Amino acid sequence: MCLKKDGGGKRTMRKILAAGMLLCVVTQSVCGCGRQQTEMEDQLHIGVAFYNQSDTFLDELGVCLKEQLQELETEDFETMMTIRDAAGSQRTQDDQVKELIDAGCNVLCVNLVDRADPSEIIDLAREKDVPIIFFNREPVAEDMMQWDQLYYVGADARQSGTMQGELAVDLIQNREQVDRNRDGKIQYVVLEGEAGHQDALLRTESAVDTLKSHGIVLEKLSYGIANWNRAQAQNRMLQMISQHQSKIELVLANNDDMALGAIDAYEKLNYTASALPVFLGIDGTEVGLEAVLQEKLAGTVYNDKEAQAEAIVNLAAALVLGEGMMEKMEFENERYIFCSYYKVTKDTVQNFLPQKKAY
Ligand code: BGC
Ligand code: CA
Repeated sequence: MCLKKDGGGKRTMRKILAAGMLLCVVTQSVCGCGRQQTEMEDQLHIGVAFYNQSDTFLDELGVCLKEQLQELETEDFETMMTIRDAAGSQRTQDDQVKELIDAGCNVLCVNLVDRADPSEIIDLAREKDVPIIFFNREPVAEDMMQWDQLYYVGADARQSGTMQGELAVDLIQNREQVDRNRDGKIQYVVLEGEAGHQDALLRTESAVDTLKSHGIVLEKLSYGIANWNRAQAQNRMLQMISQHQSKIELVLANNDDMALGAIDAYEKLNYTASALPVFLGIDGTEVGLEAVLQEKLAGTVYNDKEAQAEAIVNLAAALVLGEGMMEKMEFENERYIFCSYYKVTKDTVQNFLPQKKAY
């Protein structure tokens, strides 16, 4: 769940926070004791650790986090954010988390480099009793059980794959030219994100399953792992084109940057529009939406960074304000918050462009 997206969410959280602050002050002056009062803080200092800030989606999510945090700032509630970029090294991230704790952060928001290796970070945080909200790169379930102050905010990878599959089904059923050689099958390739990332495998699997369940006959020509990266995707795509020439009819990319890398490859080779496959991405980053607007990308699936940032920041505030506030949060499986994805096509892209997001 995520709070409502009509601006009501923000107002609601601010009201809840204001009421919470008042309640805490009253509790303090009446009894001057108890868990809630001792946990009460009038300052939220979030330490954010990114796996790699050169990642387009996470860079945009970072901007949303700052905006959301500013929204919560009031005279009585001071907010601050310190950001670190691990540039792809788990070792570096472990050190950065230690620095963030030493700098006095009272909540950590961690975008793990290696989602299977959070133990060092969990130990550091537990020692100083600083809760952790993991985001975007989901730790495995057993690691989430290591301590009861661990949370996760993200989105359901399977849902994004299903939506990408549905976009493809719609294009294939309503745009005859997808099956360019008219053999009744769709020749496709996949560009995959990092091996081991929850969003890579599940997105591919559910997109393909959705196509099959709608009766589309598929022929997989090839796949390439491009680690979410545009330049790597361009290289992988150039290799796949050299192998299959103009046979490729559909490119399913696990994110927009890789879909754009695939388009770059065809542009580099000067393919004419009629020989191009259909490209589909996931994320709805600024460049991704722009490509949908220009009809280079047939569609994408909006990875709701605004909702994720809002959930992260609200949860962080609730964690420092203590038990009374935590009861107001809605979780799945007690400690998970998943925000919905949305399909984006040329007909709906206007609603998702910056400043205009209306779903
Ligand atoms: C996004 C990718 C991003 C990755 C990083 C995914 O959810 O779709 O664009 O590179 O997260 O962890
Ligand atoms: Ca075909």
